[in-house]
Amino acid sequence: MRRKSLRLAWFETQGFRVRKTARLDRPLQRTSDIRLQSFSVAYDYPVAFTADAFDPDNRCLIDVLTRREPDKRHRIAVFIDDGVTSAMPDLAARIANYAAVHAQHIELIDVPVAIAGGETCKNDPETVPRLLATLSKFAVDRHSFAIAVGGGAVLDAVGYAAAIFHRGVRHIRFPTTVLSQCDSGVGVKNAVNSLGLKNLLGTFAPPWAIVNDSDFIGAHFRYGQAVDLTEWMVGEGKDVSDASSP
Ligand SMILES: NC(=O)c1ccc[n+]([C@@H]2O[C@H](COP(=O)([O-])OP(=O)(O)OC[C@H]3O[C@@H](n4cnc5c(N)ncnc54)[C@H](O)[C@@H]3O)[C@@H](O)[C@H]2O)c1
Repeated sequence: MRRKSLRLAWFETQGFRVRKTARLDRPLQRTSDIRLQSFSVAYDYPVAFTADAFDPDNRCLIDVLTRREPDKRHRIAVFIDDGVTSAMPDLAARIANYAAVHAQHIELIDVPVAIAGGETCKNDPETVPRLLATLSKFAVDRHSFAIAVGGGAVLDAVGYAAAIFHRGVRHIRFPTTVLSQCDSGVGVKNAVNSLGLKNLLGTFAPPWAIVNDSDFIGAHFRYGQAVDLTEWMVGEGKDVSDASSP
């Protein structure tokens, strides 16, 4: 029996599927000699549904942060859509209070960082460099968390920066619009626009967790939709002082 080449044996010990007929000891000669290398990585991540996630009594965020390392104090950097901040002006303070109450599990690296909401952040070529600079300034590493609170656009931009920083840091999404809680928030894509093309730059990077907080949807309907309606009416040249008229 022919002795297995050392290289073939080594490839097999590493779990690679190697064509038995492939000649690893010779330069490539025929198409049938092309070796197929394959690997698969399984991901699992929680998709949580809650309300008032930053109420100190709500353990949802603590549970997802400590899922794999229950006794550790986890460093978190938080990025918030400025549209959400307009609708919920006390949100940054509530997050800081939540972190303080749960200081045993959470270290809030700095005050939450505001990100321009909507397509603005995906179109601005400075958004990703700014996010990367902030992650670097905060010394976020592969054991820290970048948390994004916002609509699909902010989740896409922060998710992209988190995916490429250190080749991927832990990322938690708090979707704040109906679309993002149904779609972008639960998916694994992230992207920014570039060279005039939508979602040109991006990755597929599963988040650490997604927290769907229904209070954001309430705020979006109360505030966001009202702004959208006003903008639409201004665009249509209508008098917004009497928005109740048909
Ligand atoms: N990654 C994916 O799988 C995926 C899937 C679908 C869509 N997307 C992306 O999502 C983006 C659209 O996302 P969207 O529809 O969530 O809207 P959006 O992110 O564009 O936000 C729309 C506006 O609502 C504001 N806003 C967000 N949450 C708010 C809240 N709770 N209260 C008040 N204002 C609020 C934002 O500041 C912004 O001005 C697009 O860029 C699209 O490409 C991504």
